[in-house]
Amino acid sequence: MTTPTPSDLDARAEAFAEQLFGAALGTAELTITWFGRALGLYDALRGADALSAPEVAARAGVDARYAREWLEHQAVAGILTVDDPAAEPDERRYTLPEAHAAVLLDEEHPFYSGALADIAPVIARSLDLVADAFRTGAGVPYAAYGFHGMQAGFTRPMFANSLVTEWVPALPDVQARLDAGEALRIVDIGCGEGWLGIYLAEAYPNVTVDAFDLDDTSVALARKHAADRGVADRVRVEVRDVSEPSFDGRYDLAIACEVIHDLADPVGALTAVRRMTADGGAVLIIDEKAAESFSPSGDPIERMLYGFSILHCLPAGRDAETSAATGTVMRPDVFERYAREAGFSSVEVLDVDHPMFRFYRPRA
Ligand SMILES: C[S@@+](CC[C@H](N)C(=O)[O-])C[C@H]1O[C@@H](n2cnc3c(N)ncnc32)[C@H](O)[C@@H]1O
Repeated sequence: MTTPTPSDLDARAEAFAEQLFGAALGTAELTITWFGRALGLYDALRGADALSAPEVAARAGVDARYAREWLEHQAVAGILTVDDPAAEPDERRYTLPEAHAAVLLDEEHPFYSGALADIAPVIARSLDLVADAFRTGAGVPYAAYGFHGMQAGFTRPMFANSLVTEWVPALPDVQARLDAGEALRIVDIGCGEGWLGIYLAEAYPNVTVDAFDLDDTSVALARKHAADRGVADRVRVEVRDVSEPSFDGRYDLAIACEVIHDLADPVGALTAVRRMTADGGAVLIIDEKAAESFSPSGDPIERMLYGFSILHCLPAGRDAETSAATGTVMRPDVFERYAREAGFSSVEVLDVDHPMFRFYRPRA
């Protein structure tokens, strides 16, 4: 092994400092995006002719000097365009390109990413709690994060665009029954704000969905969304611990999206899922596409998964007397072990092309 020279060390220090600067830049830009959504600044700009800072401020009901700083930042960050950069600050006119507006604001757009900005308030609420959890080994209650909106914002566009067109068709037997108009009974385990069941109910008028979650706020919102979309009679949402031994029912299809790695007792929940689908039902488990094994490769998905694990999923999953402490980075061999311990005899990884999710079909 050769000893690094001082100039090697300088180069490594410089590269690392640049990496941290890039992270700081991303953090600041995402947080400032949150202000744009929360204060209605993007709404004020969307669809309008190019607007000046005082006009944006008047439309959004905010202070003009802050609006000016925010608009200049957004133009420098490439989010807004500016007509006349050389004009006096309050004379410059800004536009929100429609492609950016859709990504920031349209919750069913395939590239909707506005909810990612909610990471700022989620972290602000939970930072001290997570630091304490590091010291004590305890967990952090899911409700303490106020995470449900960001979660729903992350998965809803995928449910809206891919669930019915790509994900369910990966279960050809289930798809055939749906196409035949069968009145399938579906259970959504850890439903969050309930969008998965809502889109299934909208696509297939004969199906009924039972959706369960431990989080009161998520359940209340899921009920509201189902009512707003006119499917509350077929999407029933209840507060329920899906790992309880008493969790029962009979279903033709059980789905859990981004849930198994969050559960304190994943084997308990999978055991319930196996029981509930014992009459020829199918199981679809959608979870993170962690690499097959640990590698310090710097892969962006893996980096993001560890980020969410430390900030949220590991502490939230440890908020129980005993916990499997899985974390977001659930590798396929870990899921397969949970499934076998729950009594499934095999796990098929379905052929669905997705950057972040892996699709498992455990079979009894
Ligand atoms: C990452 S969110 C996924 C929500 C939803 N499936 C989606 O894809 O948007 C995980 C959900 O699991 C729920 N959860 C965690 N432990 C649970 C348990 N033991 N029983 C029921 N739900 C649970 C949480 O409240 C949270 O809503």
